[in-house]
Amino acid sequence: MFITFEGLDGSGKSTQAELLRSRLEADGEDVVSTREPGGTELGEKIRDLVLHGGHVTPWAEALLYAAARAQHVDEVIAPALERGASVICDRYVDSSVAYQGVARGLGLERVLDLNLAAVGGLMPDRTFLLALDVVRLPERLRREPDRLERESGDFHARADAGYRELAARFPERIVVLDGALPAETIAEEVYGALRVRS
Ligand code: TYD
Repeated sequence: MFITFEGLDGSGKSTQAELLRSRLEADGEDVVSTREPGGTELGEKIRDLVLHGGHVTPWAEALLYAAARAQHVDEVIAPALERGASVICDRYVDSSVAYQGVARGLGLERVLDLNLAAVGGLMPDRTFLLALDVVRLPERLRREPDRLERESGDFHARADAGYRELAARFPERIVVLDGALPAETIAEEVYGALRVRS
C-alpha cells in the first residue's frame, strides 16, 4: 500500500509519518519510509537547490520538484511497492499541486498533469491531510525557515486552499484530519482509517 502525508509546514505530518511507520513495523509489515523533496541522491541535490538556493522562478520550481519525484518513484517507491512493501511518503504530488499549482498560481490542472506524467500515473492509495488553522503555523516552526517557509502568510493560505480543493476533488483517497488534535489521537485515526480499508 502507498500512503502519503500532506499539510503545511508545521502541521505535524512528519511526526505522523514516523508514528505510522513504527506502528506498521510493529505489526510485522515491511515498510519503506521516505520524503519529498529528496529520498534519492539526485532528489537531495534538487532539494538543496530549491530550498536553500537563490531565486527560483515558479515553473523552474514546479519542474524541479517533478524531476525529483520522477527519480524518487523510479528508484525507491515503485520497486518497494513491487516487492510488496508499504510505502509511507512525507509529501508527494499533492504538495506540488497545492504549492506550485495553487499558491504560485501555475494552475491546478497543469501542475497535476505535469506530475502525473512524471510519476507515470502512480498515485497513493491513501493520503492523510493534516489541516490546521494557518495563523497558528508560525509558532509551530521551531527552526530556521527555508526559502518556501519564508513566503508570506498569504502564500501559505493559498496552499491551504489548494489542499482543501484537492480533498474535495479526491474524497476517496484523501482523508482530512484535524492537525490541532494531540499527535496520539491523530495517529489512532490514521491507523483506524487504514484498517477499515484493508
Ligand atoms: P518539507 O520537506 O516538508 O520541509 P521540512 O523538511 O522543512 O519539514 O518541504 C519543504 C518545502 O517544500 C515545503 O515548504 C513545501 C515545499 N514543497 C513544494 O512547494 N512542492 C513540492 O512538491 C514539495 C514536495 C514540497
